[in-house]
Amino acid sequence: MASPAPASESNPLRAFLPRTRVPEPCTVVLFGATGDLVHRKLAPALMRLAVEGQMPAEFAVVGFARRDWDDNQFRAELHTSLSKSNIPDFEQTWPDFQQHLLFSAGTFDDPEAFQRLKQTLERADQTLGTRGNRLFYLAVAPEFFAKIVEQLGAAGLIDPPQQDGPWSRVVIEKPFGNDLESARALDRELSQYLSERQTYRIDHYLGKETVQNILALRFANTIFEPIWNRDHVRSVQITVAEEVGMPGGRGAYYDTAGAIRDMVQNHMMQLLCLVAMEPPVDLEADSVRNEKVKVLQSLPRWSAEDVAQNVVKGQYVTGSIQGKEVPPFRQEKGVPPDSLTDTYVAIRLTLNNWRWAGVPFYLRTGKSLPKRATEISIQFDTPPVQLFEPQDEGSGGANLLVLRIQPNEGASLAFQAKVPGSRRRLQEVRMDFRYGTAFASPPPEAYERLLIDAMLGDPTLYTRIDEVENAWEFISPILKAWEEHKIEPATYQAGSWGPTEADQLLERDGARWRRL
Ligand code: BG6
Repeated sequence: MASPAPASESNPLRAFLPRTRVPEPCTVVLFGATGDLVHRKLAPALMRLAVEGQMPAEFAVVGFARRDWDDNQFRAELHTSLSKSNIPDFEQTWPDFQQHLLFSAGTFDDPEAFQRLKQTLERADQTLGTRGNRLFYLAVAPEFFAKIVEQLGAAGLIDPPQQDGPWSRVVIEKPFGNDLESARALDRELSQYLSERQTYRIDHYLGKETVQNILALRFANTIFEPIWNRDHVRSVQITVAEEVGMPGGRGAYYDTAGAIRDMVQNHMMQLLCLVAMEPPVDLEADSVRNEKVKVLQSLPRWSAEDVAQNVVKGQYVTGSIQGKEVPPFRQEKGVPPDSLTDTYVAIRLTLNNWRWAGVPFYLRTGKSLPKRATEISIQFDTPPVQLFEPQDEGSGGANLLVLRIQPNEGASLAFQAKVPGSRRRLQEVRMDFRYGTAFASPPPEAYERLLIDAMLGDPTLYTRIDEVENAWEFISPILKAWEEHKIEPATYQAGSWGPTEADQLLERDGARWRRL
């Protein structure tokens, strides 16, 4: 954790905030400042932090992009997008906030542009009191990651980590590499200029409150952990379903990634780690990440035959979602008509470790599914002796714990209750926790938490290089098997729950996907 920084007195809200959560004065540099991520997620998150009094009084946000904008144009463009973001007290906070916004135009391969950026940063230090502390956020396509870091290094903009004095940190968006080899190569390039302590690899799922709550549920309660293992858990399902297909010409990018690179290698592996990891000794960044790495190390390393047995690759064909017709993936803009890309993946795996040996984990994710729903469900075993009448077909087992990551954030525990009457009949009933009703406000946006942590120097919710590499160790053989054998995806209709092959994957174990 970073040492507590002096909180400014200028915002009265700060008096009510824990002081440790206000970072030191700093500048956030947004590469890709004209892009979608900045306008939809990062700028609103920074603005919300300002409204909530969590930004230091001395801060600057510097946009860097090719477009020939000046400070005023950058401010005007951000004003337009922020005013659509439903930020409370936006208009009151904007006049002050906008004075912290600066713009520096240039391309990523032009050393002079980085000299101009340096001058802008020095101007921020002098006029806004940002003291040379810099958070560089690379909201750009992955081919520019190494180039930008190299230019920052050459321009003398990356200070080595030091005890006191200014800091420089770099946030790297996903994907970190395209497979194991390219992830290692990227790491080698970046580490010429950056130490691991300065490298913040983002996985925005870790910024979600409900994802962080997995550890609270497991390790701040006594009732779950004693049964959280192979002796009591029959299976675990992790679903990340998306209704969205390929909006705004996203097909061209997506065709190079597919669901397995876009969602499984990062977000789903992180969810798996949090569900399966051992208790860390404390909540320091490395303690948590050490335990996550052990989960990733217990993943199988599959042959092509194992892949065929345990992984279903799917792609959507025409269908309809909520009455709207959806074209097949192969007809989306930027997608070749013979694309073999996976828009859906289902995986059955077991972890090779003491706690989980033999327990199947079922993972599935896909685009153009009937609805957006991310959840983790833990199916517990049935009691050793059946005293009551058999449960309804399909109730699965005695107890089911469901963690709803999004939407309807919360958790529910299903258990068996006796149906009133003279028979010994059972019915599944539920205890339910909802964020919306339990806490006064909805959970904050993931990017708010992640940005503040990076400014504070807390990398707990960022992925360490060995997490990335170990996740690729599991994913790369799947990609290799698909690519070498030119595996045709199984098809599913847009608006359905995926290919029938995914159902068969579970039927082999006498299980089935939860209906969401
Ligand atoms: C991104 C993927 O990382 O996560 C997108 O690239 C996906 O394809 C998105 O839609 C899902 O994020 P969320 O927060 O909406 O679940």
